[in-house]
Amino acid sequence: MVDVLGHLRDASPREFGRLTEYVILEISPALAEAQGRRAAEAGLADKVRVVNESALEVQEKISHSRNCFLIALEVLDNLPHDKVVFNPEDRWAWQAEVMPADHPVLPGYRDFPQARRSPPGTPARPPSHKELFYGVEDPLIHKCMDFLVEAQEAWDHKHAPRPSPMWGFDSWLASHETMLRPRPGGAHPASLAVWGKSGVVYLPTGQLKLLRAIQKFAPRAQCIFADFDVLPGPVMPGANGPSVRSVVAGEAVDHWDYLDPEFGTADVMFPTDFYALRYCFNKMFGRPTALESTAGFMRRFPEVVAGTTARDGTWLMEVDFLNTSMLVAEVRDCE
Ligand SMILES: C[S@@+](CC[C@H](N)C(=O)[O-])C[C@H]1O[C@@H](n2cnc3c(N)ncnc32)[C@H](O)[C@@H]1O
Repeated sequence: MVDVLGHLRDASPREFGRLTEYVILEISPALAEAQGRRAAEAGLADKVRVVNESALEVQEKISHSRNCFLIALEVLDNLPHDKVVFNPEDRWAWQAEVMPADHPVLPGYRDFPQARRSPPGTPARPPSHKELFYGVEDPLIHKCMDFLVEAQEAWDHKHAPRPSPMWGFDSWLASHETMLRPRPGGAHPASLAVWGKSGVVYLPTGQLKLLRAIQKFAPRAQCIFADFDVLPGPVMPGANGPSVRSVVAGEAVDHWDYLDPEFGTADVMFPTDFYALRYCFNKMFGRPTALESTAGFMRRFPEVVAGTTARDGTWLMEVDFLNTSMLVAEVRDCE
């Protein structure tokens, strides 16, 4: 925020003067407080408003102008997802609910042990919680699955076969340690799995909720989303499987399952199926969008390329950010 506003103030004082408000939606109380403090220290308090709320729950109308810019960088990966298993017998979708480990299996619920991964050897401690499954009822999950199927079919009709979402990730992997290679099953787009009604799928229901919230709080905003389309390293099996990571004594520890670490101690990060997100956005907002690799997007700005190129000539965007994409909802006729 300080960098964005500082740049605008120095490079374009007139536009800075026209800026009415920079709103930060931040779910974490500690980070919201830190942002407010940083704005004050940088002399920007009169421009910045920090709203300590989930962006998915915002009820107020923040802006109805086309001159509102919504920037969500590495936010999608942290949003809630719903885990669904397609029962191989009837291909019906069952949604996971997390319960205490000693909870009995209630009527209507089922256990699908194949939906979990067993770690090699004994886990450090038995998980305090477990998953039980019941037939999908949640309308948000149904809507999300409908969108994913539509996205997949729309893609199939126009361009077959659908390419990997990895934007040349294979060549990047070839130059890195094999431990970074995604585990089989970790990189499949959720839409493909829902369309095929197979296996375990982590549905981006939080992303759908976010788009619905934006329709209310900033319906005409020019949106920029940037995030990971695939996550390197160990991920949970299943389409759109997350990486589960915690920091123990300063060292990053990868977990086999989100139920393994102690509750609330690990970061759970999901890849984004950008094709599906784009389909969803176009359908809901009826606006043109551009989907590009982050490197492809950044290449248009020579000063960014110069500022992110190492002394040996390596352009870091093509090395460290090859697994990220940007979705930009374009509006060309600004007021
Ligand atoms: C990985 S950080 C990215 C921050 C920043 N965009 C950047 O590039 O440095 C993700 C941020 O999103 C916030 N966040 C996660 N879920 C949110 C939600 N539902 N509503 C608002 N903020 C959220 C987190 O607390 C965190 O500050």
